[in-house]
Amino acid sequence: MTEIEDVLKSYSATFNQDMEKYFPITDSPEQHAVKAMRYSVMNGGKRLRPFLLHETAKLFGVGYEKALPIAISLEMLHTYSLIHDDLPAMDNDDMRRGKPTCHKAFDEATAILAGDGLLTYAFEVLNGADIEDSKKVELTLLLSRSAGAFKGMIAGQVLDLYTDTHKDFPNPESIIRQTEELKTGCLLRYPCEAGCILGNAKAEERALLVKYSRNIGIAFQITDDILDVEGDEQLVGKTLKKDKAQNKLNFVSIYGVEGAKNIAQKLIAEAEDILSAFGNNGQTLKNLSRYILTRNH
Ligand code: IPE
Ligand code: IPE
Ligand code: MG
Ligand code: MG
Ligand code: MG
Repeated sequence: MTEIEDVLKSYSATFNQDMEKYFPITDSPEQHAVKAMRYSVMNGGKRLRPFLLHETAKLFGVGYEKALPIAISLEMLHTYSLIHDDLPAMDNDDMRRGKPTCHKAFDEATAILAGDGLLTYAFEVLNGADIEDSKKVELTLLLSRSAGAFKGMIAGQVLDLYTDTHKDFPNPESIIRQTEELKTGCLLRYPCEAGCILGNAKAEERALLVKYSRNIGIAFQITDDILDVEGDEQLVGKTLKKDKAQNKLNFVSIYGVEGAKNIAQKLIAEAEDILSAFGNNGQTLKNLSRYILTRNH
């Protein structure tokens, strides 16, 4: 295990314990969706987005506890996006994080409601944080926009589905970039900006971290698409080789695995350069960007 994998593993162990407290075990019939929410949230997951948030906040002197509800709310929202992404009407997946997807472990209606429940709970938790009201407002707006249907994650999911059936683009790379920046990039950019908001970062610092996050966002999705082609299903925890079967348009489908790897490598090298501005303090985020390229799950 590399150093960053160790760091992520120990971070996840602490984060998981804290996150679990938000999901009491319940048998009340009206709280059936909470069971499914708990199942999906506590079902593994690399916890990359909360880690990014905590690490960015740390650059500006914000401690773990202070940033925790903001990080938890993001992981809730991310998990909702996965539950809905896996539904039969979307990617129709049976496995997620090495376990049956939410609609397989429960049923489709419960999975839809669990996703809805996580999305709304995310904003409840964010607004329960012990931070200034002005920061809550800023974070609430930023998270809604990052996850939203205009220029956020939902817009990316819409484009992802659109390109399943429309292939005739004069410049396929530009539509793919747009899709990946939206569907994946937005929820990787948000934690970097949230860390800046929490820590009152200067505008120039925030701009650098936004640049970093845009590069790792695309590289992260490229690696996801490469893993779909050549990953180990046991490690990845998802059914692989689905993108080709579903005729997905992505960097791998237009440039091949090697071409896509080169693009991702370039993006990560740039991301590392950007972080040099933070000196030694940026080392963990630097290591994280390398991990995004070399991860096997
Ligand atoms: C999967 O995200 C969805 C994509 C944006 C590619 P992750 O690979 O971060 O999923 P978990 O949270 O670790 O399961
Ligand atoms: C999912 O992209 C992105 C979001 C959930 C927003 P994918 O469909 O490629 O993710 P996986 O491969 O199912 O994790
Ligand atoms: Mg999808
Ligand atoms: Mg999917
Ligand atoms: Mg994928």
